[in-house]
Amino acid sequence: HEAEAHRTDLMTITRYVLNEQSRHPESRGDFSILLSHIVLGCKFVCSSVNKAGLAKLIGLAGETNVQGEEQKKLDVLSNEVFVKALISSGRTCILVSEEDEEATFVDPPLRGRYCVVFDPLDGSSNIDCGVSIGTIFGVYMVKDKDDVTLDEVLQPGKNMLAAGYCMYGSSCTLVLSTGSGVNGFTLDPSLGEFILTHPDIKIPKKGKIYSVNEGNAKNWDGPTTKYVEKCKFPNDGASPKSLRYIGSMVADVHRTLLYGGIFLYPADKKSPNGKLRVLYEVFPMSFLMEQAGGQAFTGKQRALDLVPTKIHQRSPIFLGSYDEVEEIKALMEQNL
Ligand code: AHG
Ligand code: MN
Ligand code: MN
Ligand code: MN
Repeated sequence: HEAEAHRTDLMTITRYVLNEQSRHPESRGDFSILLSHIVLGCKFVCSSVNKAGLAKLIGLAGETNVQGEEQKKLDVLSNEVFVKALISSGRTCILVSEEDEEATFVDPPLRGRYCVVFDPLDGSSNIDCGVSIGTIFGVYMVKDKDDVTLDEVLQPGKNMLAAGYCMYGSSCTLVLSTGSGVNGFTLDPSLGEFILTHPDIKIPKKGKIYSVNEGNAKNWDGPTTKYVEKCKFPNDGASPKSLRYIGSMVADVHRTLLYGGIFLYPADKKSPNGKLRVLYEVFPMSFLMEQAGGQAFTGKQRALDLVPTKIHQRSPIFLGSYDEVEEIKALMEQNL
């Protein structure tokens, strides 16, 4: 009977967030409206990704972005969809996207109280070969929506109200935190609704997987080299960790969140700040990791304490199971 009841008592993401809103009465449903527009963007990208091969969406858009990367058609398309959906929600005032050099300031009549930072399509290099990709987003509340400057969005990650990602893989899974735990929702294409499938996700305290691009090993600094060495040749009799690296942050982080382990994109001689962008990759994933009982560390400090000065600033990141990050912190502090 329980299963029966469950099947008809659909916990959609919309209903879930409305329940959450009852804990923030001051929001008057604004966040729910914002989220419904983020969800719309995710559904659009999910359907575009699924038919990319057929709809000639594979391949390059012939432009390069501020990151110096060749934009894929899906990078550009998904960016446009998210920007338009977020502006039309009437709940945003600043948008920062990986694909736009400058922040977007919403026209006053359509302004709301939220800043959204997002990576519209994460893992672009994996599009053409069909490996999972995703969208990453974070939400800040502005102090005064009528006097909006870039400072409103250069806040430490700990000030985020919400963060999440959507992974376009064998199924379309949206993982979200609004500051009281992490929940996973899976798109039911027959309903067009995200249904709660992973309630209250907690990352295992330890993990047997490490996730890093070993191809950069030549350029790593001492502590990183030492840590990865320890994963492969443990000196305490433990068994070596397995290496799993997909090359899409969303997919590598999703596996780390569910199975445990450590994900790292360290600094190296070529990129002293690592590769991943603080506002729309490092902060949202660090927020989720802490909400799920894990940790996120830049090599020098707690990732969420970092105060960004530029919207596309990068930072090294070590995130995952609580105990695994403790080990890295101990190693790094010895060398500071
Ligand atoms: P994006 O596709 O949004 O530019 O992000 C790609 C990032 C991230 O998804 C992944 O973890 C990392 O690039 C992989 O970088 P390497 O190929 O250098 O390992
Ligand atoms: Mn990119
Ligand atoms: Mn990315
Ligand atoms: Mn991207």
